Parts: sequence; C-alpha cells; structure tokens
Amino acid sequence: MRCLFVADLHYALPQFDWLLQVGPGYDLVVLAGDCLDVGSIVDFSAQTLVVRKYLQRLAAATQLIVCSGNHDLDSRGEDGEKVPRWIEDIRGLGIKTDGDSVVVGDTLFTVCPWWDGPIVRERLIRQLETDAQRRDGLRWVWIHHAPPRNSPTSWSGSRSMGDADVEAWIAQFGPDIVVAGHIHQSPFVRDGSWADRVGKTWVFNAGHQFGAPPAHIVLDTDADEAVWISAMGIQAVDLDGPLVRPIPPLTSVPDWFDVKRTA
Ligand SMILES: [Fe+2]
Repeated sequence: MRCLFVADLHYALPQFDWLLQVGPGYDLVVLAGDCLDVGSIVDFSAQTLVVRKYLQRLAAATQLIVCSGNHDLDSRGEDGEKVPRWIEDIRGLGIKTDGDSVVVGDTLFTVCPWWDGPIVRERLIRQLETDAQRRDGLRWVWIHHAPPRNSPTSWSGSRSMGDADVEAWIAQFGPDIVVAGHIHQSPFVRDGSWADRVGKTWVFNAGHQFGAPPAHIVLDTDADEAVWISAMGIQAVDLDGPLVRPIPPLTSVPDWFDVKRTA
C-alpha cells in the first residue's frame, strides 16, 4: 500500500489543487489537520465549503482520512468545547474522520480529534484503548495533528512545542506510526526533523511550506520505507532499520517510488 501524508495546508488552494492531481495515484491520502486557516481573509464558512468540495472530489478517487487540527474548530459542542463540525459533516462523503478507526489492508488507522477540553480528550483515550485491543497482527497508525513533546518533529528551533499527552500515550500504547503536523517549521530547523523514533514508534511531521507542492511524505508499507519530499530536498527512512541522524539526503528516489506521482 502506498500512502500520501500531508498536513497544515491552511487553505492554500494551490496545494489542494496539487493534492487533487496526485492523490488518486495513491491507495490512501491522509490530511493530518489544519485544512483551514483561522487567519485567512476568507470567511471560515466559505473556507469549509471550498475545502469540502476538494475533499469530496478526492474521496471519489481514493481512500481519504482527515483529522482535525487547531485551525479546524468552527463550532462549539453542546458542552461548550470547540469542535470541527465541518469535519463531522464530511464523514457523509465516505471520508474517515475524527473518532473513526479503519483497517486498510494490514493497517489499522486511528483518526484522532484535536481536543479543546476534557470531554473530547476522554473520548480519544477511550478510542485508543479500544483500538489497542484490536491491533494484533496489524500495523497501528495514529493520525494526530500534534506531534509528541520532546521530539525533533515538534522542535520549534528553540524549544519543544509538542504535546505531552501524545508523548505519554505513545509510551503507553506503542503504536507503530504517528502521523502529525502542527509545528510547521520542525523539519526545516536545526535539531528538528520530519521523522523521529520514540521507542519503537515512528513519528512523522511533513512540515509546512508555501506554494505547491506541499511538503509531503510517502509511505510504502510493502517496502517499509518513508520518503519526505520538500523544498529542502528528498530524504528517506527504512522503517525496519534504526534511525540514523542526521538523515542523509537522497541522491535518487527509491526503486519503488514512482516519480510521476509527485510531478
Ligand atoms: Fe498548522
């Protein structure tokens, strides 16, 4: 299975255009939070309409997973906690979203919500506990906008801006892979990275760059290899091997990589 991971598109329409163009070439596309941008001059409800259209078209062509990020909270729930109602609504388009867990091939994907208060946080913990019971024999992947604290994937350049809960949950549950975003600069700053290994768990954060294509990660579950493509160049890690730092740049893409998909 070939998966495409992006996050933090922040209503950058050229990046959504790119995603529509290349996404159908993948077995699975993941947007790990912050499709929208609270700082945009475009009205929030207009953003949700436009992004929904993009996602609808993409979901018609391939399997699509979208989790919420802190920029995606457009409403308040009955309990007063901020929630991404528009993301709840795209579930009807066949898209796996917050609170969903789905098995694709030999991989269990747990789609985690951005939580603004104790109710959604507790719901997420229950989801992780439930999925921990069914992970046997499967590769377990979390889609969670915030990367863990104390990881190069959450390094701002001067301090860790990662999530302490995610750090603790990784230690508790030991998923195979966590796909995150949120800290835009981590892959691009000194001592930061797009990839990390926390215990046996691989953590990815493609980072955010302007223009198309967005920084992105391609995971090939057959080759057990992940490739990061950004304005900084191309790097790859072998998920079966140890993480070597600094991750050396690739002079050519791996044999399994179809360059046309990202052209
Ligand atoms: Fe973001």
